[in-house]
Amino acid sequence: MSQIRCAPRHPAGGDFGRVGVFADVIPAAADAGFRKDIRDLKGQHMDSNVASILGELRQDHKNMTRLLSLLERESNRIEAEQAADFELMQDVMHYMTLYPDAVHHPKEDRIYAELKKVRPELAAGFSRITHDHRAIAEQGLRLRNDIELIQAGAMVKRKTVVRDALHYANTLRNHMQWEELDLFRRIEEMIRSGHKKLETDDFPVAADPVFGARLERRFERLFKKIGVG
Ligand SMILES: [Fe+2]
Ligand SMILES: [Fe+2]
Repeated sequence: MSQIRCAPRHPAGGDFGRVGVFADVIPAAADAGFRKDIRDLKGQHMDSNVASILGELRQDHKNMTRLLSLLERESNRIEAEQAADFELMQDVMHYMTLYPDAVHHPKEDRIYAELKKVRPELAAGFSRITHDHRAIAEQGLRLRNDIELIQAGAMVKRKTVVRDALHYANTLRNHMQWEELDLFRRIEEMIRSGHKKLETDDFPVAADPVFGARLERRFERLFKKIGVG
């Protein structure tokens, strides 16, 4: 059985309560930290122009695709029993479970709800959206937890990390492809029919902490490694 073990990054007596936990449910401690992360994101207000929002969503997809490629590269290294950059994987999953899950997907949910309201005939198959967004969030947290366990010095099977990484990457890639080839075109149809603005006064969203105008300190390491520019 092939396992990965990294030197513990935390001193003895640190938060080792999660080490060795392989339950399907994301541990409460990780979830609490995740919620705090979201609260700490810098705020901004959503643009009311649907075409602008669509442009931001497409840019988010490009950014996520770039990070997924890094994740898959490291996952391939793990599978081949080569040295993998777990710090990079940790930072990528920190970002992925933060910005896309807390901002990108809720923003999409808002715009899809608008589409369903004004052009119900364009809303066929929308139940899959909720299912996909939930699956992406759950799979992302599971992978993030795998990597945090490794970083804390726990034993984790190689095949578990590789499976969870590829599962997550495939789900997210398939979902984005569906949006690009189908759902976003339905939104463009809504724009063409004259529905160009959303009521967003009470809809604050958060700025992208890596690819946005201001890099957040906690993502400086990721920013340097991926060479954003
Ligand atoms: Fe989506
Ligand atoms: Fe999306």
